[in-house]
Amino acid sequence: MNVEKMMVIGAGQMGSGIAQVCAQAGYSVLLHDLKVEVVDKGLGVIRKNLTRQVAKERMTEAELEQILARIRPSTELENARSVDLVIEAAIENMEIKASLFKELDELAPAHTILASNTSSLPITEIAAATKRPEKVIGMHFMNPVPVMKLVEIIRGLATADEVYNMIEDITKKLNKVPVEVNDFPGFVANRILMPMINEAIYTLYEGVATKEAIDEVMKLGMNHPMGPLTLADFIGLDTCLYIMETLHEGFGDDKYRPCPLLRKYVKAGWLGKKSGRGFYEYA
Ligand code: CAA
Repeated sequence: MNVEKMMVIGAGQMGSGIAQVCAQAGYSVLLHDLKVEVVDKGLGVIRKNLTRQVAKERMTEAELEQILARIRPSTELENARSVDLVIEAAIENMEIKASLFKELDELAPAHTILASNTSSLPITEIAAATKRPEKVIGMHFMNPVPVMKLVEIIRGLATADEVYNMIEDITKKLNKVPVEVNDFPGFVANRILMPMINEAIYTLYEGVATKEAIDEVMKLGMNHPMGPLTLADFIGLDTCLYIMETLHEGFGDDKYRPCPLLRKYVKAGWLGKKSGRGFYEYA
């Protein structure tokens, strides 16, 4: 089976980035969201990213138009009837994902692979909502998608080897590096990254150092491109809290308890860069 047509569900930060890299690799992509305004916003972000590439003379205007022409907007899930691969990048909520995958399973042709960009939810549980668990897999891209090389590929309990191999091939065609991971809470990336971020928040909470000092230590001392508190703002504090809760619940181990300061900020609506305020303020 050859994957030619894809559908990316969710036109937010991750979904639009995924649609961009897929279209750049030559795939025909449907960018889907519930509201046309959200899809338009996602398409606008893609155009802006590609325009920057043209300005840097890495791409011609004609190439930009060809890439954009490969992405079509969608607000009808019915469109899944015509695709070979769905990459779901909707909200991180198990109930929503399970009902979405159930519907996709009913709509998509039998050969279609259903992938999820979930950052920490169990692929096996998402797959159980369908009648094709062997064709369900995790494709966890990193933010910002056009820049970051890694894609964690998560095998659910029933994922077929053939499906894994196809997704690995596609990931390479997207000019990304696939890394194989088994299905445990947080996979590898967030199992290691989020406790580090959570610990940085505890360090602030306990008054060990200022936010700027904590970030500086990790940037200059460990050569991280962003300090952990800046990175938390970049990822979204609600997402960080959700992942910590998934780890806490999934392992039943208090070493993953979310810092009360993280909870407080999320309750206040201080969600990081996207809401204009998190650990830092954004214009
Ligand atoms: N979209 C597209 N391109 C972007 C971008 C975006 N949102 N942000 C930056 N870029 C591009 C810039 O255009 C620039 O491209 P060129 O080098 O080709 O000109 C390049 O990235 C570097 O950008 P800047 O010079 O503006 O800034 P920088 O050097 O500080 O890099 C960064 C920005 C790439 C985001 C860097 O700070 C970084 O790597 N930060 C850490 C990111 C990270 O850890 N991501 C993983 C988050 S965890 C996750 O995603 C998993 C999860 O489930 C939560």
